[in-house]
Amino acid sequence: MLLHRLYRAVIMGPPGSGKGTISGRISKSLGLQHISSGDILRANIDAQTELGLLMKASIDEGQLVPDQIISRLILGELTLLQHSSWLLDGFPRTLSQAESLEESYSVDTVINLQVPFHIIRQRLTSRWTHLPSGRVYNVDFNPPKVPGRDDVTGEPLIQRDDDTPETVMRRLKAYQTQTEPVLEYYRSKGVLETFRGTETNKIWPHVEAFLHKKFAVVNKGVA
Ligand code: AP5
Ligand code: MG
Repeated sequence: MLLHRLYRAVIMGPPGSGKGTISGRISKSLGLQHISSGDILRANIDAQTELGLLMKASIDEGQLVPDQIISRLILGELTLLQHSSWLLDGFPRTLSQAESLEESYSVDTVINLQVPFHIIRQRLTSRWTHLPSGRVYNVDFNPPKVPGRDDVTGEPLIQRDDDTPETVMRRLKAYQTQTEPVLEYYRSKGVLETFRGTETNKIWPHVEAFLHKKFAVVNKGVA
């Protein structure tokens, strides 16, 4: 579907709720640019940039990186995408980040994925990631065609250093204390749309139908 005006969306949900998986489908189905804060940080770690080296310890421990650093990084990416519609995944994650974003852009829609914590713990330990693209696989749920290799490039997949059981628990705790208030922030602005479930394949058709309907209205308003 082609959009007639720029669309700004955010996807939220606890670690492992399927944000990366659903974002890939949204960007394919609706052509939004997918910007994942975690993917950008991991690319910095992989390339051993100064920022990556500084942030690696916090990320591996399941702690959030400082607000000013991540806000500057993501807002910098967004200035390169002035003429594109985008979907932010993993940002904002604190009230301060949400306020920094709001200073420059107003968000049209926030997709909130609600998946029970006990489901998430099991998922993350069987996840494999293609670092350059952020594509994710799961050995039980959506395995790659060739074990250990990315479907598109054939390059090797890795397991994230922060997907150990103890770190996953810490990430879930950080989500509850620091990120849940952001949901309330967007709810009060009337842009929050919550999707509940335990399986991404069952949640996805609802997200897709919702966004197509929303975009049809946006396009009609402009036509
Ligand atoms: P980030 O990379 O954003 O991690 P996260 O929010 O913890 O979320 P994940 O990427 O782990 O999960 P996801 O929701 O994308 O799920 P996925 O689709 O992969 O951040 C990492 C770290 O960076 C943070 O901890 C922090 O340190 C730092 N950071 C990032 N942004 C920051 C910010 N704004 N401020 C401060 N610090 C920041 O799915 C999960 C798995 O489940 C996959 O394997 C998938 O295949 C599988 N799956 C999906 N559906 C099913 C199903 N039905 N059955 C079985 N498996 C399934
Ligand atoms: Mg992700």
